[in-house]
Amino acid sequence: MKKIMIINGPNLNLLGIREKNIYGSQDFESFFEALKQQYPAVELSYFQSNHEGGIIDTLHEIGFSYDGVVLNAGAYTHTSVAIGDAIAGITTPVVEVHISNVHKREAFRHHSYLAQNCVGVICGFGLNSYKLGIESFL
Ligand code: DQA
Repeated sequence: MKKIMIINGPNLNLLGIREKNIYGSQDFESFFEALKQQYPAVELSYFQSNHEGGIIDTLHEIGFSYDGVVLNAGAYTHTSVAIGDAIAGITTPVVEVHISNVHKREAFRHHSYLAQNCVGVICGFGLNSYKLGIESFL
């Protein structure tokens, strides 16, 4: 059974409440429950942190044993050399995902410090971006 972890970064605990016009009205917990039903043959786990170090610690913890990470690092995508380095330092492949199409938005969201160390980037498909990220590992 493949082990895949979804990691969400800052402010993504507010999904369903925050900027609904951009991120939609579904909370992540209910989406994650539905995902688990859709992928019974995958060992799916989920971690969220508003702290850069929490994301890095988790990448280190699981990054040598899991089959894939679907990472939405939120705004840290555009600022964090340290998360980029953590992805480079582990052996588990990481897919960068975003709910919104970051390229349609402010210029500061167009650059990612993570993408060069990821196997690929998926953005703009709403919560389905996570599903596409999982699919990429199957
Ligand atoms: C986001 C896009 C980021 O630019 C933003 O800071 C987020 C969410 C997305 O999923 O669309 O927090 O990663």
